[in-house]
Amino acid sequence: VDHLLGIKYLNKKDIELIFETADHFKEVINRSIKKVPTLRDITIANIFFENSTRTRLSFELAEKRLSADVVNFSAGQSSVKKGETLIDTVNNILSMKVDMVVMRHPNPGAGIFLSKHVKAAIVNAGDGAHEHPTQALLDSFSIREKLGDVGGKNVVIVGDILHSRVALSNIFALKLQGANVKVCGPKTLIPKHIGSLGVTVETDLKKALQWCDVANMLRVQNERMDISYFPSTREYTQQFGVNKELLDSLDKQIVIMHPGPINRGVEITSDVADSDQSIILHQVENGVAIRMAVLYLLASKIK
Ligand code: CP
Repeated sequence: VDHLLGIKYLNKKDIELIFETADHFKEVINRSIKKVPTLRDITIANIFFENSTRTRLSFELAEKRLSADVVNFSAGQSSVKKGETLIDTVNNILSMKVDMVVMRHPNPGAGIFLSKHVKAAIVNAGDGAHEHPTQALLDSFSIREKLGDVGGKNVVIVGDILHSRVALSNIFALKLQGANVKVCGPKTLIPKHIGSLGVTVETDLKKALQWCDVANMLRVQNERMDISYFPSTREYTQQFGVNKELLDSLDKQIVIMHPGPINRGVEITSDVADSDQSIILHQVENGVAIRMAVLYLLASKIK
């Protein structure tokens, strides 16, 4: 694997190797060793054509903890605004002797396109409604940390499956590891072909929560939403929002996840997001170790 473009291109052994490598880096971080010299000769460009807090910061932290040289590029402050193309932009950055590109882009397949046209290792940090591979890796890594194993676990992904790169990458990753996966959300926000991914659909949130060990609550993506998909945010919250009363009505304690950013009071209430059942901030913490592992493994191919 020369790039990380999507979970679709990985196999179970790739995921196991990434997790074992991330275990090592997490142990290093927990020993308060802030920096290792591993990527001292590598320069990485983080190029973001879409907003980000967690992904951008944790990639940058991961790169700095591996001693890579880092340059950051935000499209909003760049010559992209003057009409420069994606390939020209990246080739100009690469001519400054950059080895790897971490890219977030609003167009599905942007990373795949780029990998065919430029000479650098490409890491997909989210491409439209397509894939967000490092998010799925850190999500599965967090389930493994909490429950010991991902295989055999029942995981429900709740919300806007249609527009979610987090959902698609999670489905690929969870299925590769042998988890049972359901999706739950409004019918208009569930892709018609979902069954072909080995996933079942449950439109009753309480039934889905009663079935699962883990519920991954997706953000309602207003920026990708059309009014025709769902009548109102209030109705969404009533049918598909998780709150403490609903969780307390179950006969077991489930693990609550969310990729962030949270719409508090829409898909999840604050008392759930901030509760002991929630591993949301552990997901964010694990994002650094997972991204260190991905960068380390890819860099070992170009060193
Ligand atoms: N989960 C996630 O991708 O968050 P950001 O958009 O803040 O990077």
